[in-house]
Amino acid sequence: MTPPLRPEEPSEEFATTSVETKRLILTRPTRADAAALAALANDVRVAENLATLPHPYGHEEACAFIDNTEVSPSRVNFGVYLKGTAKPAFVGTVSLMPRDGEKFSLGYWIGQPHWGKGLATEAARAMADLAFERLDAAAVASVCRVTNGASRRVLEKCGFQYSGQGMGPSLFLRGMVPVDRFRLERRVWQSLKEWRDARFGTLKALAG
Ligand SMILES: CC(C)(COP(=O)(O)OP(=O)(O)OC[C@H]1O[C@@H](n2cnc3c(N)ncnc32)[C@H](O)[C@@H]1OP(=O)(O)O)[C@@H](O)C(=O)NCCC(=O)NCCS
Repeated sequence: MTPPLRPEEPSEEFATTSVETKRLILTRPTRADAAALAALANDVRVAENLATLPHPYGHEEACAFIDNTEVSPSRVNFGVYLKGTAKPAFVGTVSLMPRDGEKFSLGYWIGQPHWGKGLATEAARAMADLAFERLDAAAVASVCRVTNGASRRVLEKCGFQYSGQGMGPSLFLRGMVPVDRFRLERRVWQSLKEWRDARFGTLKALAG
C-alpha cells in the first residue's frame, strides 16, 4: 500500500494524483472542460443544493473554478469523468476541503442527465478511500441541505453517520439555510472495507 502522506508535508507527486473506479476517472479538470462544466453547472437544481456555486453559471465562472482547483494533501478538487468513450465525459465535480473546523469535508455534484446511476456514490466512496488511504484522515465530514434527500442517501450508502444539524451558506439563496451534518469515522470506513473483503472471501471459498 502507498504510504500515507501528511498534510504538512506537501508532495509534488500527490499533485498529479488521479483516481480510477469501475466507471469513473477522478482527476483535476482543465480549461478543455469549461464548456461541459458550464453546461451542467448552470442548473438551478444543482445551484440550490450547493453552498457556493454561482448562478447563472457560464464560461467565465467555469474558467475561474478550473483555474482555482488544487490537488494537494490538504485540498483536492477533481472533475468526475465517465469512462466508456475515447475521451471520458465530464459529468461533475468532487472535492475534499477544510470546512467548519473539519480537515476534510466531502463535496460533490453530478450533472442532472447523469443522476440516478450511482455515479455520486461511486465518486464519494473513491474520495473517502483517498482520504483514509493516502491523506491519513481521521474522519471525513460532509454537509447537505435538510431538503436534499438524494445527497443524504449518497452519504448513507457510503457509511456516513448523521452528526447534527446547523446552518450553512447558500450563495444561490443569498443567505443561510438549515443543513444536516454527517461524518465517516476511520473505524467505520475500516469496518465496511473489512466486511466487504470478508464477504468476497467467503463467496470465493464457496465457489471454489
Ligand atoms: C445529490 C447528487 C450528487 C446525487 O447524484 P447521483 O449520481 O444521482 O447519486 P446516486 O445515484 O449515487 O445515489 C442517489 C440516491 O439517492 C436516491 N434519491 C434520489 N432522489 C431522492 C430524494 N428526493 N429523496 C431521497 N432519496 C433520493 C436515489 O434513489 C439513490 O439511492 P438508491 O441507490 O438507494 O436508489 C445529485 O443529485 C446532484 O448533484 N444534485 C445537485 C447538487 C447536490 O445536491 N450536491 C450535493 C451537495 S451536499
